[in-house]
Amino acid sequence: MLLCSTLLLAVGFGALSGVLGGVITDPTLVSNHTYDYIIVGGGLTGLTVAGRLTENPNIQVLVIEAGNDDRTNPVVYDIYRYGDAFGTKLDWSYPADQGRSILAGKTLGGSSSINGAAWTRGLKQQYDSWLQLLDPADANSGWDWNGMFSYMKKAESFTPPNSGQLAKGANSISSYHGFTGPVHAAFPLYGLSSKLMYGGPQEPAFASVMVKFGLVKYKDLNGGTPNCVSFTPDSNGRAFVVNQPRGLGSPVILRVAYLSPVESQRKGWTTLVGQQVTKILFNPSTALPRVATGVQFGTSSGKRFTALARKEVILAAGAIGSPKVLQLSGIGDAAALSSLGIQSVVNLPTVGKNLQEQTLSALGAGGTNFNVGGSGPSDVIAYPNLYQLFGSQASAMVNHITQSISAWASSQAKSALSASALQTIFGIQANLIIQDNAPVAELFQVTNYPDKLGTIIWPLLPFSRGTVQITSSNPFVPPKTTVNYFSVDFDLSTQIAAARMVRRSFQTSPLSGLSTGETVPGFSTVPDDANHGSDANWTKWIKSQFSSVAHPIATCAMMSRSLGGVVDARLRVYDTQNVRVVDASIMPLQISAHLSSTLYGIAEKAADIIKSGL
Ligand SMILES: Cc1cc2nc3c(=O)[nH]c(=O)nc-3n(C[C@H](O)[C@H](O)[C@H](O)COP(=O)(O)OP(=O)(O)OC[C@H]3O[C@@H](n4cnc5c(N)ncnc54)[C@H](O)[C@@H]3O)c2cc1C
Ligand SMILES: *[C@@H]1O[C@H](CO)[C@@H](O)[C@H](O)[C@H]1NC(C)=O
Ligand SMILES: *[C@@H]1O[C@H](CO)[C@@H](O)[C@H](O)[C@H]1NC(C)=O
Repeated sequence: MLLCSTLLLAVGFGALSGVLGGVITDPTLVSNHTYDYIIVGGGLTGLTVAGRLTENPNIQVLVIEAGNDDRTNPVVYDIYRYGDAFGTKLDWSYPADQGRSILAGKTLGGSSSINGAAWTRGLKQQYDSWLQLLDPADANSGWDWNGMFSYMKKAESFTPPNSGQLAKGANSISSYHGFTGPVHAAFPLYGLSSKLMYGGPQEPAFASVMVKFGLVKYKDLNGGTPNCVSFTPDSNGRAFVVNQPRGLGSPVILRVAYLSPVESQRKGWTTLVGQQVTKILFNPSTALPRVATGVQFGTSSGKRFTALARKEVILAAGAIGSPKVLQLSGIGDAAALSSLGIQSVVNLPTVGKNLQEQTLSALGAGGTNFNVGGSGPSDVIAYPNLYQLFGSQASAMVNHITQSISAWASSQAKSALSASALQTIFGIQANLIIQDNAPVAELFQVTNYPDKLGTIIWPLLPFSRGTVQITSSNPFVPPKTTVNYFSVDFDLSTQIAAARMVRRSFQTSPLSGLSTGETVPGFSTVPDDANHGSDANWTKWIKSQFSSVAHPIATCAMMSRSLGGVVDARLRVYDTQNVRVVDASIMPLQISAHLSSTLYGIAEKAADIIKSGL
């Protein structure tokens, strides 16, 4: 297929011109060649930026991806194989604290090639808060909801639900969506008379119970208003392999949406797979800002190569991969790097700090003999705010947050710049929760996991802060990743409150009519009582079984330097002239959503910033 012609092309012209095009595996074809831009990581954001930059045929872009091109592997393109990539060579499984690991795609497309495809966006005010964390001089930089909404829509090609899907509960508001972008989003299963979208009673029953619990049911949550219960679409066409939308050809191309459809036309876009970037190379002049000249790359067993960048080096290696590459390159805490024998290029101690990751638990109940009415994926998500989640305890929780901000900031300061900066950031986060009703937990109704009736939960806005820090100058040693799960009590309280809400949901009509009783964790593990389980019993169960959600962010946060930012509003690493970060690591705070739609928007905006030469 595409790969064969690409290789021929590469062999034919590559060595002469330095411009190859296509997806290649031979590092000698790009070694010592010069490109305008080198992008580190061919994941969600890296391919998005490359796709936009190479719209100009005079621009030459090299993407270097550590994983392989697995687009023809059903584990990548078939949504019903979700989970099968975990723990395989397609997954970094970055080791973290408390025995957990953080899943992340190590394959062309990155985590977007192994993700769950849920397509949601956060609360309007959460994007607006990004501006508050930047310098006042950046007030017009467009890092707010209005700016981000148009870029999120630019990435999207939405198919509204058809009559069959509408009958099953799907809905949409067309002004909340884009219709011409590369990333297809729709309800399952596009074009098949909605044959496979769940049509049984379980999803509507869950939504009805959430309405009884005080949530509003919205037609569509993708317009900056996630505080509701709603049917939500899926991205990437992962769910759509049977029917190919828009005549794009093979289902395989749907997964890597910015590359596959244009792959054979973009002669200026070369993607080298199976090679890991080991460091960024800098001009030896030590004057600030430092100037990157290219990157070094290789494999753990093979030799090292160099590729040169005429204009910029752009990091898109993900929230664990990007701080790692910066630290290996001498950008980070100079003292910590010098102890590893790495010479400081920019002393920027907050590289790898401010890590924010969430914690997942799955609850289940046996089901009566009802027909689930399809094969999914599951569609209904509830996003309660603090008042809805904590009910009669909410005002006590508001007081607790307000009174604890300063103590929490001190306790987490080692994972950020300083307690005073963190106090400012926590103040903004608290305000979003208390004033703006930002959803604090996700309750995702899942059919047949972990039992016939299932709901997976996670706190959306943890105050715990962690770190990503290399412990070796060997780039093939994973960095030490410490999330400090539940190190702020609010995070655990939120997880417990969400678990209680799910337990109550199984006991509330109409869901109770479909349930034969809670099985996970079940009353023998967490005895039921007037409180729907004691704090002690829930704590014990949650800590014994939670997993990492795989939504790490903020390790190269876009914030003012005084707050501990790593990149400015132009996504440029402080004190460098031409190193940018465009991936999940620049998000300064979590949002009440799955991350992918927001990250496509960030990368779309990044591409425009880079094109404009700012
Ligand atoms: C299991 C899972 C389920 C998810 N489910 C959803 C969901 O349902 N909905 C949703 O919206 N979001 C979901 N997400 C989140 C979303 O997919 C990620 O947040 C997003 O893909 C991150 O984009 P990124 O560009 O920052 O990183 P990635 O997409 O992970 O890309 C980083 C790329 O860089 C490569 N790389 C790393 N280091 C190097 C190096 N040194 N040299 C070369 N290459 C390197 C990696 O191999 C990878 O390809 C999920 C994520 C995971 C892991
Ligand atoms: C790249 O250049 C270096 C230095 O000139 C040289 O030693 C090396 O062999 C070259 N590598 C390739 C693959 O051409
Ligand atoms: C529940 O917690 C109580 C103390 O609050 C404890 O005595 C009991 O053993 C716990 N039950 C389980 C099943 O862990």
